[in-house]
Amino acid sequence: MAKAENSRIALPVGSNLDRFIMRNQEAFAYASGELSQLIRDLAYAGKVVNREINRAGLAGITGAYGADNVQGEAQQNLDVAANIRFSRALQKGGEVAAIISEEEEDIMDLNNPRAKYIIAIDPLDGSSNIDVNVSIGTIFSIYRRLSPQGGPVQMEDVLQKGSDQVAAGYILYGSSTMFVYTTGAGVNGFTYEPSLGEYILSHQNMKMPNDGTIYSVNEGASKTFPQEVKDYIDKCKDRGYSARYIGSLVADFHRNMLKGGIYIYPPTEKAPNGKLRLMYECNCLAMIAEQAGGMATDGKQRILDIEPTSLHQRVPFFVGSKKMVKEASKA
Ligand code: AHG
Ligand code: MN
Ligand code: MN
Repeated sequence: MAKAENSRIALPVGSNLDRFIMRNQEAFAYASGELSQLIRDLAYAGKVVNREINRAGLAGITGAYGADNVQGEAQQNLDVAANIRFSRALQKGGEVAAIISEEEEDIMDLNNPRAKYIIAIDPLDGSSNIDVNVSIGTIFSIYRRLSPQGGPVQMEDVLQKGSDQVAAGYILYGSSTMFVYTTGAGVNGFTYEPSLGEYILSHQNMKMPNDGTIYSVNEGASKTFPQEVKDYIDKCKDRGYSARYIGSLVADFHRNMLKGGIYIYPPTEKAPNGKLRLMYECNCLAMIAEQAGGMATDGKQRILDIEPTSLHQRVPFFVGSKKMVKEASKA
């Protein structure tokens, strides 16, 4: 896909997301509008999920759902609700052939025969924070379908490398709700204005500081971290860096993107390949990090170069300011 020039997509801060998407689409000579519509569908479902999150305590939809997902993690009611909201919006929209989701064991073929796109999604990230009023998020990646339209979706359609992403983004349900995305021509962030029901451009052409003084890692598990990671954390302490760990990847990533910092989920005894999932957590944030001037590795290689082998594959994750990720991962 041709890369749009930032100058062509520049719109004043305060423009709404729909207008921005439209202007962005005009910058692609052969764009058919389907990707734009798909991004709108995701943004719309995000508004619905945002409303459910805000009302969850009153509506009685906090708490555990009573089942485990394919990874043996207890699903929360809002995990299930968000999965339904996003998959319905994408099915109705008609641009998506299939979804892979944290909450679904197999590929969800949406039976949209003419659809060109594949979505990988973590409908609700940070489940342990749902019931305690702490920031949570949604993470998504968009790929182009490889097999011919009309037939059933193939594994090769969904198991694509992160470098093949057409677009990636996240929604942060925080002290304000934000929609942040890239189509490969920089990263832009939109803040949700609930009284208007609109996302408004608030963070134009986001750039991650090259270096930072924040490290985000679950130090409770540090006894079984690899020695290199222990050494790096010691260096952070020697330098007087701040430890900040929310436990919602999206929120930790977003803060580090704005302020400069590193997020690490290394291999541990409990999670020998790390905990985070390549297809719907790491690839997306790796693309956004790189588009913002940051970096993402698994400790050895670039996340976006990893050939995926399964839908729910886990990888160690080092992401954030380039200088910090280089030093921590020796990549
Ligand atoms: P999810 O809620 O989608 O399963 O993801 C939780 C992830 C991520 O958001 C967070 O950074 C990490 O799990 C926290 O794990 P630990 O509690 O092991 O630190
Ligand atoms: Mn997650
Ligand atoms: Mn999740």
